[in-house]
Amino acid sequence: VSGWTARQATTGDASVLARLLHDFNTEFDTPSPGVELLTERLSTLLASGTTWAAVVGEPAIGCALVTLRTNVWFTGPVALLDEMYVEPSRRDHGAGSALIAELLRWAKATGVGLIEINVDAADTDTMRFYRRHGFSDVDPDTKEPAFYFSLEL
Ligand SMILES: CC(C)(COP(=O)(O)OP(=O)(O)OC[C@H]1O[C@@H](n2cnc3c(N)ncnc32)[C@H](O)[C@@H]1OP(=O)(O)O)[C@@H](O)C(=O)NCCC(=O)NCCS
Repeated sequence: VSGWTARQATTGDASVLARLLHDFNTEFDTPSPGVELLTERLSTLLASGTTWAAVVGEPAIGCALVTLRTNVWFTGPVALLDEMYVEPSRRDHGAGSALIAELLRWAKATGVGLIEINVDAADTDTMRFYRRHGFSDVDPDTKEPAFYFSLEL
């Protein structure tokens, strides 16, 4: 037990989430629209019910962001873990695991049928982290590796 507890974010956490996601992109040299615009977007998305988020720490030092969609094979929604971030100096002390625990608690309570995550092949630490929490990158029946294809439009 790490001592970290995560909780579901509310629309009131939009600016905190925005700052964390902005820091995430800045750390990995990915463009960010900026904290102000992200705050606006997150307020709208969190209120819509299609986006869910969790924060860890008080003040927050990490977050997870999930979007929901319908899927013909599942009664409940399918969730995509879009973002998962813990501040660099706080990593490796269980904060990320607390976020995953909160995600799983909420997902089970909500009737989510499947949680998906896209991970870059080079992120071996992150892959080990997700595997440890029960996620798999192989087809459960055939054991074949899963790939993620995308086309930016
Ligand atoms: C992935 C991440 C959210 C995990 O949070 P955390 O608080 O470090 O997680 P925990 O302390 O609960 O677990 C640590 C595990 O994550 C691994 N990990 C993954 N990326 C890491 C990183 N950049 N730094 C430190 N540990 C990392 C550790 O190796 C450790 O695994 P192990 O116990 O098997 O060695 C966090 O490390 C992070 O923000 N990484 C950079 C952003 C990122 O890669 N996000 C995921 C995108 S899919």
